[in-house]
Amino acid sequence: MSKIPKNTILSKQRLAKATYEFWIDNALVAENAKPGQFVIIRTSEKGERIPITIADTQENAFRIVVKAVGKSTIELCMKNAGEQLYDIVGPLGKPSEIDCYGDVLIIGGGVGIAAILPIAKALKNAGNKVRVILGAKTSTELILQDEFSFADKLVICTDDGSEGIKGTVVDGMMEEFNLEKPNVIWSVGPAPMMKATSMIAAQYGIPIWVSLNAIMVDGTGMCGGCRVLIRKEENGVTKEEIKYVCVDGPEFDGRYVDWESFIRRLQQYKEEEQKALERFLE
Ligand code: FAD
Ligand code: NAD
Ligand code: FES
Repeated sequence: MSKIPKNTILSKQRLAKATYEFWIDNALVAENAKPGQFVIIRTSEKGERIPITIADTQENAFRIVVKAVGKSTIELCMKNAGEQLYDIVGPLGKPSEIDCYGDVLIIGGGVGIAAILPIAKALKNAGNKVRVILGAKTSTELILQDEFSFADKLVICTDDGSEGIKGTVVDGMMEEFNLEKPNVIWSVGPAPMMKATSMIAAQYGIPIWVSLNAIMVDGTGMCGGCRVLIRKEENGVTKEEIKYVCVDGPEFDGRYVDWESFIRRLQQYKEEEQKALERFLE
C-alpha cells in the first residue's frame, strides 16, 4: 500500500464546545510520532500554518484535538470526514523525555488535556506512578476524561465546581503536593496556567515540563517567530539563552521560561488576528 500521505480526514467528532477530534490518514506521521511531538497543518493552499499536538496514533492515521479560537482553527474545525487537508509537516519538535522518575504529576488544562494523554500513557508504561490533574472551565468543557483510566490517580478541577474540585488545576496541584511531592511534573494548557504551575514547581525545586504554544511560522528554526527566552542561574551567574520552540522544544523546564516576554509575544498579533477572523466570517 502506498505511504504517500493523503491527509484525508477519516473521522471527526465534537468533544466539547468548539473542540473537535480528528483522525487523519497519514502513515508517515503515524509511524514516526513520539509523545510530545506536533504537526503543522495547512487546511488550504493560502492557509496559515497551524501547530497541533499529535494526540494519538494508529497504524496509518493520527489523532488531533483542535479548539477553534481564530481564523485558521475555525477553518480546520469546519472540515468534515472525507475532506483532505492541504498539507501536513511532521512529526516536529523534540519528543518528551520519557523515563522512570518514580512519582510523576501530569497536569492538563482545556484542550491541553489532549496533549498530555500520550505523555501520561508513555510515563505509565515506563513504570512511573502517574497522578493526573485535568482542568476545565466547566464539566461540559472537560475532554477525554475516560481515557485516563490507566492513571494511578485522576483529579478533576472545574473553575465553576460543576465537577471535582472547585478551582483551577493549581488548587488540585496544591492538594496533591500536600499528600506527596512528585519527582517531576508535566503541565500543558493555556500559558497563564503553565506559568502558575511553573511558579509553584520553582518554589519546591521540582522540574516541570511545559509545552509552549508559541506562534509559529515555518516550524524549522529559520524564521525566529517562535523564539523564547530561557533564563537560568548557575553558580550565582544569570545565563540567558534564546531558544526556538519548534526545534528546541516544544517542551522546556517551566522554571526557567521568561513568562512575561512569552505571554507578550502571544498577544503581539491580536489586532491582525481579529481582522483576519472578521474577513473570514464575512
Ligand atoms: P489566531 O487568529 O492566530 O488567534 C486567535 C486567538 O488565539 C487570539 O486571541 C490569539 O491571541 C490566540 N492564540 C493565537 N495563537 C495561539 C497559540 N499558539 N496558543 C494560544 N493562543 C493563541 N491548539 C489546539 O487546539 N490543539 C492542540 O493540540 C494544539 N497544539 C499545539 C502545539 C504546539 C506546539 C503549539 C505551538 C500550539 C498548539 N496549539 C494547539 C495552539 C494552536 O496552534 C493555535 O490555537 C492556533 O495556531 C491559533 O490559530 P488561529 O488562526 O485559529 O487563531
Ligand atoms: P481554558 O482557558 O479553558 O483553561 C483550561 C483550564 O486551565 C482552566 O479550567 C484552569 O484549570 C486552567 N487555567 C487557565 N488559566 C489559568 C490560570 N491563570 N491559572 C491557573 N490555572 C489556569 O483552556 P483552553 O481555552 O482550552 O486553552 C488551552 C490552551 O492550551 C491553548 O492556549 C492552547 O494553545 C494550549 N495548548 C498547547 C498545546 C501544546 O502542546 N503546547 C497543546 C494543546 C493546547
Ligand atoms: Fe520559525 Fe520556529 S517557527 S523558528
